[in-house]
Amino acid sequence: MKNRSYRGFDESFRFSREELLELVDLTRYTASSVNEQPLKYYIAFEKEEVEQILPLTMWARALKDTQLPHSGMGPSAFIIICQDMNISANTTRFQRDVGIAAQTILLAAVEKGLGGCMIGSFRKPELKSLLGLSEGIEPNLVVALGKPAEKVILTEVGADGSTAYYRDENDVHYVPKRRLEDIIL
Ligand SMILES: Cc1cc2nc3c(=O)[nH]c(=O)nc-3n(C[C@H](O)[C@H](O)[C@H](O)COP(=O)(O)O)c2cc1C
Repeated sequence: MKNRSYRGFDESFRFSREELLELVDLTRYTASSVNEQPLKYYIAFEKEEVEQILPLTMWARALKDTQLPHSGMGPSAFIIICQDMNISANTTRFQRDVGIAAQTILLAAVEKGLGGCMIGSFRKPELKSLLGLSEGIEPNLVVALGKPAEKVILTEVGADGSTAYYRDENDVHYVPKRRLEDIIL
């Protein structure tokens, strides 16, 4: 329940390389289609590099008039989940591996009192060149991480059926979730 998509962080919190390696280490034990394990990870935690990556990522695009993260509330690190196409070039099959890895990283972060957001919407060519990724290493999903500094509240999808997340005047973020009876076939 605490593992929400957080888009506002306390920038004074910084990660060490070891802390991020610990999160990536967990992904080595997750399920992988035919156990091929084609995923590789780029970790960024130095303030300057994090600030270079941030503008290449798109946050909460459904909130048209809100620029997130707010200035001074950016993430403290990024883990960029990439697929090594030299191991397998089947991107469809390994989308599931990417999701499992991302969720594993985020659940572990939440256990440490931290949190983050999966970012599927990012400027891929620019990110590839910024990170200097070698041939065949394709970024698939960006995981932003930090110490959450915002409130996220789960609600139920109402009669209008809308799943659109929204914010109130205090910047509290509401996320409608479908009811159990509505997802059982
Ligand atoms: C594969 C995937 C890609 C996502 N990409 C983005 C993204 O590019 N930007 C963003 O702000 N949120 C992104 N999200 C977060 C979703 O918007 C979020 O999961 C949803 O609003 C529900 O909120 P919750 O995670 O707190 O339950 C992504 C989530 C997933 C699973």
